[in-house]
Amino acid sequence: MRSVFPLGDNETESDGHAMNESTRLHLGAAYYPEHWPEARWPEDLRLMREAHMTVVRMGEFAWSTMEPEPGAVRLDWLDRAVDLAAKAGLVAVLGTPTAAPPAWLSTPEVLAVDDKGRPVQFGNRCHYCVHSPELHAATRRIVGAMAERFGPNPDVVGWQIDNEFNRVCYCDRCRAEFQRFLKRKFGTLDDLNAHWSTAYWSQTYSDWKQIPIPIGGHNPGLMLEFKRFVTASYRAFQKLQIDLLRPKLRPGVWITHNFMKWFDGYDHYAMSEDLDLASWDWYVGSGHHDYLNDGAAHDLVRGFKQRNFWIMETQPGSVNWRDVNNALNRGEARVMAWHAVAHGADAIAYWQWRSALGGQEQYHGTLVDQSGRPRPFYDEAKELGDDFAKVRDLLAGSTIHCDTALLHSYDSCWSIRGQKHHKEFDYIWHLLGYYRPVAARNVGVDIVSAEAPVDGYALVVAPALVLLSEERAARLAGFVKGGGHLVLTVRTGMKDDYNALLPARQPGGLTEAAGVEVEECYALRNPVPVAGPWLKGTSTTWAERLRVLDTGQTEILVRFGACNGWLDDQPAITVHPYGKGRVYYVGACLDAAAQQILIDHIVADAGVEPVPATPDGIEARKRTATDGREIFIVINHEREEKQVTLPWAARDHLTDRDVQGTLSLRPYGVAVLTKADGKG
Ligand code: GAL
Repeated sequence: MRSVFPLGDNETESDGHAMNESTRLHLGAAYYPEHWPEARWPEDLRLMREAHMTVVRMGEFAWSTMEPEPGAVRLDWLDRAVDLAAKAGLVAVLGTPTAAPPAWLSTPEVLAVDDKGRPVQFGNRCHYCVHSPELHAATRRIVGAMAERFGPNPDVVGWQIDNEFNRVCYCDRCRAEFQRFLKRKFGTLDDLNAHWSTAYWSQTYSDWKQIPIPIGGHNPGLMLEFKRFVTASYRAFQKLQIDLLRPKLRPGVWITHNFMKWFDGYDHYAMSEDLDLASWDWYVGSGHHDYLNDGAAHDLVRGFKQRNFWIMETQPGSVNWRDVNNALNRGEARVMAWHAVAHGADAIAYWQWRSALGGQEQYHGTLVDQSGRPRPFYDEAKELGDDFAKVRDLLAGSTIHCDTALLHSYDSCWSIRGQKHHKEFDYIWHLLGYYRPVAARNVGVDIVSAEAPVDGYALVVAPALVLLSEERAARLAGFVKGGGHLVLTVRTGMKDDYNALLPARQPGGLTEAAGVEVEECYALRNPVPVAGPWLKGTSTTWAERLRVLDTGQTEILVRFGACNGWLDDQPAITVHPYGKGRVYYVGACLDAAAQQILIDHIVADAGVEPVPATPDGIEARKRTATDGREIFIVINHEREEKQVTLPWAARDHLTDRDVQGTLSLRPYGVAVLTKADGKG
């Protein structure tokens, strides 16, 4: 059997428990036994099991219970909780508790400092300085003890390091560490000064100690390196914990961190390199689920390790931290769960199981209320548990394969967010503008690092890849030469790896492949008209005036209409053959309708097929089983009954019925299908 996770050196297929647990579909919740009398635990675990839950996550904020005073480590209670969970049929994921250093550890040496120079107040979370030696020593003690105690435990199948790393510390120690980081990277101040153009405004550094941590706007080179430094800092703290755990863990037991979708505080690709599994915490907050945007977040996280992921937290109805903490509609959380699975999630874990009587999150949604009885939402989770039980074997080990890749780059995101040039131009907004129309056609997308190899894809979309190193340009040009279709968009290829402008016109190293160069870019106050033979619409926010270089070969697909004089009748969107492939340059930010037309054209040109086409509001995605069998997950994201015409006869594994021709989906209905061609 091919596992989602590569087997370790000394691991065999039959090693069992932990490895199998990582690839099968799980339902679970975050549970905090430390909040409750031990006599209550069996009832909570019974209710979990009755909802067909299979996993429970514990421990991630329990440091003060695990170590009430320095060195007095007490893990017996957690051992008993893991054991009771196992007896109830649930495996455990344990979190290291470092996101919540206890009061005794929250000394001036450990507390982070905010950007106004004030120590962060104790009593919330993530209040530590990630470089604090005192924190590191205490982390070694508690994580080391957990590793000793639970590493060999067959009922612990995975570990989460810390919880949602997110803080930036501005203390003197971090500043000194930043200076050391820069010295390691640049070697000499001359080199740093040259890359950052520090003669500008007399920023020239003559001593490493002069270099500040940027607060607000600063030199673009400095700002970019600070983000890289924050990445390196959290990666080192995460690695410190991984190194304590790994030698003690049984083969196949995985280590993850729970990320927050598009959070840009650090480079998630770099952070994920040391992890076995990526996971993320999916909150809608206020309002409702938007499957085209949320699908991008799943595909993003699947791309961190280029394999299936876990939803480590999601809201059981409502949260407590928005202006209006509305509940999801009845049935909405169930389709959300299926939508995540359709995009490669192997687990859905609700946050949290039961409302704590005290603490900051008293009003957050839960499955069991303050009285200890199930809330109405519990029944929806139970229905989901029932669904999962029906298809667990079918989905075990299944993976997702796409012909289209969308490139994501943290450095380009940081660069643009640091200098937006148009207040409404956001890197992620722009990326989603390319994701949504592709996803709306049921075309599977891998969102991968701009550093990832792209050979094998038919279509690669590289939105606003402003930082274009020579390697990136060469890799993408090679992809096109080999027959790939590449889409470049506004702001591409302006800068080098140090956030300095390239001494060349856009798109830098991809100019020859694109067959055009950008003569000028314009931040737009008002939409400008664009038109071509098969597309008419507007460009908002941004427009680039293109000059055709390869006049014999470059096709002008769309031109700007009359507007500011500079853009009037100039090329806006082009396509250029290069090697065996083609490069589109999109110098406009089209309105949604025009963007859909453009994307439909490009997808068809690249020969990418949808996973069958469905009406609006219905999503169809495909996972491929270990034996090659195709599994289709079809989801009605709307609150009215819908019909889908299937191109083949199928078996619905949730209803255990055959479907011929038309599939009817109830409001928020889901079907898990295999083709009825003998292989189903
Ligand atoms: C997450 C966090 C959880 C819980 C949740 C509430 O960001 O990881 O511990 O606080 O938010 O929505």
